[in-house]
Amino acid sequence: MKTIVRLLIFFLSVSGICVFLGEVSRYVPPQEQRSCACDRCLFENDTLAIEGLRKFPQPLLSRNYSLPEEDYNWWKRLQPEGRNISDYRKNMERVFQLIPDNPPLEASSPGRCRTCAVVGNSRNLLKSHYGLFIDFQDYVIRINRGHSKGFESDVGNRTTHHVMYLESASQIDNTTHPVLFTFKIRDLEWITRVLSTQPSGKKSLFNKDLAMVVNPAFMRNIHQVWLQKKGAYPSTGFMALVLALHICDEVHVFGFGADSDGNWSHYWEKVPNKKIKTGGHPGNVEYEMIEELARHQVLKFYTGW
Ligand SMILES: *[C@@H]1O[C@H](CO)[C@@H](O)[C@H](O)[C@H]1NC(C)=O
Ligand SMILES: *[C@@H]1O[C@H](CO)[C@@H](O)[C@H](O)[C@H]1NC(C)=O
Ligand SMILES: *[C@@H]1O[C@H](CO)[C@@H](O)[C@H](O)[C@H]1NC(C)=O
Ligand SMILES: *[C@@H]1O[C@H](CO)[C@@H](O)[C@H](O)[C@H]1NC(C)=O
Ligand SMILES: *[C@@H]1O[C@H](CO)[C@@H](O)[C@H](O)[C@H]1NC(C)=O
Ligand SMILES: *[C@@H]1O[C@H](CO)[C@@H](O)[C@H](O)[C@H]1NC(C)=O
Repeated sequence: MKTIVRLLIFFLSVSGICVFLGEVSRYVPPQEQRSCACDRCLFENDTLAIEGLRKFPQPLLSRNYSLPEEDYNWWKRLQPEGRNISDYRKNMERVFQLIPDNPPLEASSPGRCRTCAVVGNSRNLLKSHYGLFIDFQDYVIRINRGHSKGFESDVGNRTTHHVMYLESASQIDNTTHPVLFTFKIRDLEWITRVLSTQPSGKKSLFNKDLAMVVNPAFMRNIHQVWLQKKGAYPSTGFMALVLALHICDEVHVFGFGADSDGNWSHYWEKVPNKKIKTGGHPGNVEYEMIEELARHQVLKFYTGW
């Protein structure tokens, strides 16, 4: 179905170009080139529909990037360990000897509508039957311990990107991009260790050729600008959602917030776990922000069952 739609769009564009070539002498360039082929494009004119939210220039790290000291100083306080910025730089250099120099990303283009499904882990996904619609999106982003097996009809079965950090890491498929969040230098050492001691023959934790690392300066930007410094720092899920807004043109959000009983719990838990809270993360602030982004049609928010 999707292929047919794409072919149709392609055919229409081609005929458009032919008509356009016929009138080339009278052509006046448009005021603004659209950045994507969706109904709406995110960050048009570099701004979201919400005041003050601008596109962050480099959400993912590349080898050459030099983290500003003030961003490092914010990052080092998240999980203090008494290290310094030269330790950080040395360890990040080691990481980039093992993973691609530049994050493997598809650039935006006027002929393309990149769609993302961000799948949180809330129990409100159960009985939602979102699975097919989630799998239909170009990119399916799962978070931490989120997984499909046994829940395909509600959460889908594709995963193109899996967002994780040290303590949440589990083995992922080798066709899935690992998107790594770091909170301390020990996390960088962990990445290096995992990748340089991959057991030969055995299945590795993740495919290093597809790996990307989130920029600590981007995490700080999310905390300070998107969440106005509420809470200690943002949850991985919320940061994954903002990342999706940067790598896609259209974003669909599932599995965030409490279930219909008001319990914050994961969809794979047999019994709702009353003890789960949102930790140091500003859960309600994040939830309200997602609702506000949805009201401004920045993203589409599916609240489940
Ligand atoms: C972008 O700028 C153009 C020209 O200034 C304006 O017509 C258009 O509405 C703007 N788009 C958004 C989404 O603000
Ligand atoms: C990194 O910087 C070096 C030297 O400034 C440059 O030659 C190289 O092309 C850069 N690499 C990337 C991926 O930007
Ligand atoms: C950073 O810490 C290392 C030890 O981990 C030390 O050798 C180095 O001198 C320190 N550098 C700075 C600039 O403080
Ligand atoms: C995912 O689900 C689709 C449709 O239900 C099915 O055709 C496909 O084989 C499944 N893929 C995997 C990897 O399980
Ligand atoms: C991915 O896994 C499949 C089988 O599980 C294997 O044949 C293939 O070589 C792996 N690819 C990479 C890049 O590790
Ligand atoms: C949450 O889950 C518990 C345990 O199953 C259940 O007893 C309770 O009714 C649920 N709702 C609330 C608001 O706690």
